[in-house]
Amino acid sequence: MIQVAKGLEGVVVADTALSHIDGENGRLIYCGYDIADLAHGATYEEIAHLLWLGHLPNRAELSAFSAKLAGYRELPPTVIDTIRMLPATADPMDVLRSAVSALGATRHFSGAVSVDHAMELTAAMPTIVAAFDRIRRGLKPVEPRSDLNHAGNYLYMLSGEAPSDQRSRALDTYLVLTADHGLNASTFTARVIASTLSDMGSAIVGAIGALKGPLHGGAPALVLNMLRSIGKPENAEPWLTAALDRGERIMGFGHRVYKAEDPRSKVLRQVAERTSEIDFFRLAIRVEDVALRLLHERKPDRRLYTNVEFYSAAVMHGVGLPDDLFTPTFSISRTVGWTAHVIEQLKDNRLIRPAAEYVGPTGLTFVPLDRR
Ligand code: ACO
Repeated sequence: MIQVAKGLEGVVVADTALSHIDGENGRLIYCGYDIADLAHGATYEEIAHLLWLGHLPNRAELSAFSAKLAGYRELPPTVIDTIRMLPATADPMDVLRSAVSALGATRHFSGAVSVDHAMELTAAMPTIVAAFDRIRRGLKPVEPRSDLNHAGNYLYMLSGEAPSDQRSRALDTYLVLTADHGLNASTFTARVIASTLSDMGSAIVGAIGALKGPLHGGAPALVLNMLRSIGKPENAEPWLTAALDRGERIMGFGHRVYKAEDPRSKVLRQVAERTSEIDFFRLAIRVEDVALRLLHERKPDRRLYTNVEFYSAAVMHGVGLPDDLFTPTFSISRTVGWTAHVIEQLKDNRLIRPAAEYVGPTGLTFVPLDRR
């Protein structure tokens, strides 16, 4: 038995050809391509093709692939019924998890995992989130449009109006940047489930549950709460100082792997500048500056930088998403990564089954129930 660090920090448990994080130098690679190049030049559909099929598509491949993906957007009636049965006040992540579970029960993702299963799950995610948002507001869900891309159609299904190119492109860039990220907690969860030879739907249900937590994908709405609570740039210093004095964590900063600036934050900062109201963006910039300075002063050896969630919050707010849809939108983008990892896991599978060191008592004398 090998003892490893708590939280599996620094432990390599799988080979992957999907994404590589160079945490020391702040670089992220998808299948050999630098994320900064992909964010500026590729769409989410191209990234899905790259992660599932191993290469960037040419124009003809992309057109056929995008049409096929869009063809899976409509939900079976059982899934819509499931969403309608849940309380309007439910956490959208709980609704998403339940609706994907209902989709799995309806569509039977059993048998060999395939890119088709990945496409179906990926295409359904925005429809589920948008349908719940409409239903909870007392509105009819909007049917998906196959002439819009993944990002544009999601925004359209939320509002019923086709988004501007700028909003659609901003969200598309966010989706590209967050499609995959090594063996993070939710991706690891998906791979563990896949390793039991369960189905792809179950793997995605588990991954959604793992992403929900604030130490992983649940942080962006908390970032926005913090920015609202700070209110104006001059409040940043006293607010953040007081929070750190209370021993609180500043949401949107620090990362298990990055010990340099997260390359996704760099791009998202530029996108946020284009999509946010000027006062909001000035506030975000000021909060980032002060937070980085205070964190570096207080934890000089920890190398804490802005993580992806800080400007993700600003971008999602800027394109008009409600706060509680930030993490479901992260789930929408990450479904491509999760499903790609499930496919990869099963190409060379071994049941993932670590051991635990037993630290409980031994040798206790059993006392029957009526004598306890
Ligand atoms: N604010 C204040 N202090 C922090 C922060 C922060 N955001 N992040 C880390 N630290 C401190 C910790 O208190 C700890 O200090 P100590 O060793 O003196 O006690 C030290 O830095 C190391 O922290 P760990 O928790 O060991 O680092 P870990 O790698 O486990 O944590 C994590 C990474 C969970 C993201 C952490 O930085 C955090 O809680 N950040 C805030 C929440 C957040 O932004 N979550 C989104 C993460 S991005 C994503 O998953 C997509």
